Amino acid sequence: MAARGAVGRAHRAAAACLYPGAWAVDATVGNGHDTLFLAREVGPQGRVDGVDSQAAALAGARRRLETAGALERVRLHHGGHEDLLRLLPDEARGRVGAVLFNLGYLPGGDKAVITRAETTLAALEAAVALLAPEGRIVLVAYPGHPGGAEECEAVMHWARSRRPEGLALLELDPPDQSGAAPRLLVLESRPGT
Ligand SMILES: C[S@@+](CC[C@H](N)C(=O)[O-])C[C@H]1O[C@@H](n2cnc3c(N)ncnc32)[C@H](O)[C@@H]1O
Repeated sequence: MAARGAVGRAHRAAAACLYPGAWAVDATVGNGHDTLFLAREVGPQGRVDGVDSQAAALAGARRRLETAGALERVRLHHGGHEDLLRLLPDEARGRVGAVLFNLGYLPGGDKAVITRAETTLAALEAAVALLAPEGRIVLVAYPGHPGGAEECEAVMHWARSRRPEGLALLELDPPDQSGAAPRLLVLESRPGT
């Protein structure tokens, strides 16, 4: 079933720069829904690398991917996405079509384990190095849980004012935070701009 809301829009933004045989990264694997989505987009000839700091999340995601017959095109890494460049092989640099972040806590898991501004910003910087030309960083952030608003604010500030050169801001919705609605961020690599 297709995802709805902000996650559905994130999927569509990622799908726009993926194709059979592409390389995608899920920076927050969680229960594996997004990883499976990416695996279907890149197809059997493609590759997805997924990262999560919780081993239990990765175990559940592995089962989901196996059941769907998509595990062979996915590499799951246990670690922090701030270490993306260490976890992924060097040949990933400049070759990844989409890096997806779905921030916050693991649904059905420990709500005290959340993504945090400092490590999320480090992961975003690492993700930039992975992007192929016209590759995208697609991120959904949730301001509604404790710690979420601070992370959301930090990420949106980075996207607006501190993102590296050559990275275009395609979408930031809603543009200003009001309430607890999830926020969607889409950035695209445009080398030389
Ligand atoms: C909202 S969930 C992801 C949902 C997931 N994409 C799905 O399809 O179910 C956020 C995930 O980020 C993970 N996480 C928290 N801090 C992290 C970090 N520093 N590096 C990687 N993953 C992290 C959590 O363990 C959690 O599984």
